[in-house]
Order: sequence, then C-alpha cells, then structure tokens
Amino acid sequence: MKGTRYVARKPDSDGTIHYPEEEHEIWQLLVERQLEVLPSRACQEYLDGLKQLGLPEDRIPQLDEINQVLEPATGWKVERVPALISFDRFFELLSRRRFPVATFIRSIDELEYLQEPDVFHEIFGHCPLLTNQAFADFTQVYGELGYKASKEDRVFLARLYWMTVEFGLLATDDGSRIYGGGILSSPGESIFSLDSDQPERRPFKLLDVLRTPYRIDILQPVYYVIDDLEVLHSLDSASITENIARAKELGLFEPRYPRKAS
Ligand SMILES: [Fe+2]
Repeated sequence: MKGTRYVARKPDSDGTIHYPEEEHEIWQLLVERQLEVLPSRACQEYLDGLKQLGLPEDRIPQLDEINQVLEPATGWKVERVPALISFDRFFELLSRRRFPVATFIRSIDELEYLQEPDVFHEIFGHCPLLTNQAFADFTQVYGELGYKASKEDRVFLARLYWMTVEFGLLATDDGSRIYGGGILSSPGESIFSLDSDQPERRPFKLLDVLRTPYRIDILQPVYYVIDDLEVLHSLDSASITENIARAKELGLFEPRYPRKAS
C-alpha cells in the first residue's frame, strides 16, 4: 500500500478535534456542491438519513455528533482511525458496528475524488445510509464474513463492497438513484454515474459482482443496480461464500478499463 500525504487529526484532552479554518471551508465547499447535485440523484433512504444526521454545512462535524444520531438509530458508531488501516482492523470494526473514519480532509486540489477515504467521504458519503436498518445490518454481516475470510476470499469481498457500499446504484420508479458512498462523496461521479452514456449499468447479480475487476483511480466503467436495499440485506454469509467459490472457478470478467501503465 502506498504512503499517504494526509495525517489524521487527533482530539484534544476533551475529545474535540480542532481542524484549521481552511479545512472547514473545504467541507463547506463539498457539502454545498453535493446539496445542489444530490436531491435529484441520491436515493430517498440516503436523503432521509442525511436529514436525520443534520450534518453541519459550514464545519467538519465532531464524531460524537454523528454517534448521537447513529447509535440510537441502528446501533452503529463511527470510530476514529489513522488514515490507513489494515483489512483485519477494517473488518473487525464493521463486525462490531463501528464505522472507521480517518479524521483528515482532502486538499483543494483533490476536491473531486481521492483514493484515500477522508472524513467527508466517510461521514457525508457513508453515514446517512447507516441510519437505514437493512443497510446497517448488511454492513455488519459483511464485516463478520470478512473478518473470518482468507486473504484470497477478501479480494472477492472487496469487489462486493466496491460495487455496492461504494459505487452502488438503486433502481426506483423515478429512474436510477445513487446509494454508494464513493459516488455520493464525489461531485463529478455523482453526475457521471447517472447522466453519462459511457458507463455500463448492469442489474445486480452477486456472482457477476464478484467477478468484476475494478480500479480505484478512475470514474467507474461499470455500475451494478439493485432493486431495493433489501437485496443487500438478503445476502447471507452462506450465499456469499458459495458465490465466491463459484467466482473462483469461473474467473474474472475482462476489465472494461485500460490496464494501468506499469
Ligand atoms: Fe468508503
């Protein structure tokens, strides 16, 4: 894993994290842009969760503020972590309904999207849906499964997470809507994922998802669309494990992106 130029900020003795003013301004800029774009693009469950969280628009919230809403809603809490954590730690946290949040924010030159998840991605992108019971339960099941999984199986599980929690779309009567936090925290991809004719939007099939390679540094060429958040809820450990075994036999799909120059 490559190094990072970001350092997560630590709280003072009262548990408060003091971000410099220019970092609050980046949060504000990002929130303003997303509030223009998302009302007609994000799924209703996300918009409901966003309202419930009541995130401040002009400053980065403290993690406690999030927990005061999340914990009574679905038993989830956010937990402060350094910028990069191991897969072991990541799965272990999810299995205990703890969502990792690195307390740094992207710099102005990486406003659109950055590969490392920052506080805007984790809180604005992911936390609203963690107020939704089906989604909250699925995320915990996923964590439990990942914690026990072999290194090889974790690569397949990472594809499932990527194509759902990070870059998933939801079919509604009004057309496709976004529920993936990777899209919801990226101003450019929020528009691209729904409006562009470049990406493929495929109906969600667990086996297909597990066989789909991805790159983390480009706009996604493939999105998977679920019919209901309950679809995720219905993915139990046994069927995921079974499908991983099948995906291993069948192999990966041909990538729909150019291979990285090495
Ligand atoms: Fe994420």
